[in-house]
Amino acid sequence: MNLILLGAPGAGKGSQAVKLKEHYGIPHISTGDAFRSNISKGTEIGLYAKSFIDKGLLVPDDVVVGIVKARLEEADCANGFILDGFPRTVPQAEALDKITAVDCIIDFKVDRETVLKRLTGRRSCSCGGTFHVSKLKSEYCPVCGKKLYIRADDKPEVIEERLRVYKETTAPVAEYYREQGKLFEVDANLDIDKVYDIIVAKLG
Ligand code: AP5
Ligand code: MG
Repeated sequence: MNLILLGAPGAGKGSQAVKLKEHYGIPHISTGDAFRSNISKGTEIGLYAKSFIDKGLLVPDDVVVGIVKARLEEADCANGFILDGFPRTVPQAEALDKITAVDCIIDFKVDRETVLKRLTGRRSCSCGGTFHVSKLKSEYCPVCGKKLYIRADDKPEVIEERLRVYKETTAPVAEYYREQGKLFEVDANLDIDKVYDIIVAKLG
């Protein structure tokens, strides 16, 4: 199953991807996580991407497409994958269509107030886990035990810019897939387990 998770910052794409990856036994490919891993290792791509990410802007298409193309060629993607945060421009979607076929795009529909509450309270882990501060008992990851951190782009002014970029540049990607008849909208304001149940009921 080749799956795409599309939606605004804080819509819950990463949270669902972690659960769906377990359920379907296919890899979770997050372009945001790939950039953050490169940033923490201090690679050239990481340094380049950081200059965009820290401002809430998108990393240029050619860089992102190159990373995704290489990742999809790896053996563990042979039976399917979950793309989280890619594509987020129409040219990226067109590039993906040339690389492989996609089965379903889950479009996470979420209110602005929900996004602001979620992102200002988010705690992240290098293992890929994302949590909300209201549900945590300590500052350590409940899954792997590492210390949780606050993402550099989860500052209020950067969140605003990410939402603006989403509306202007990423929202049209939903229309691109709607025209292909592959778009499935989910109410992402609901709680994590409810959203998960709706997605699994749709995908089977
Ligand atoms: P990326 O890492 O993809 O960030 P994003 O799209 O802004 O999305 P987030 O990760 O912030 O939100 P999410 O939907 O995963 O929500 P989460 O599950 O964590 O990208 C970061 C940056 O990298 C971009 O700004 C860009 O610069 C660059 N980039 C990445 N991909 C790119 C591309 N393709 N092209 C160009 N540039 C690219 O949940 C958020 C919080 O809410 C958590 O605390 C969670 O516990 C909580 N939560 C989640 N779901 C629920 C729920 N249903 N109910 C209650 N709480 C919930
Ligand atoms: Mg995410």
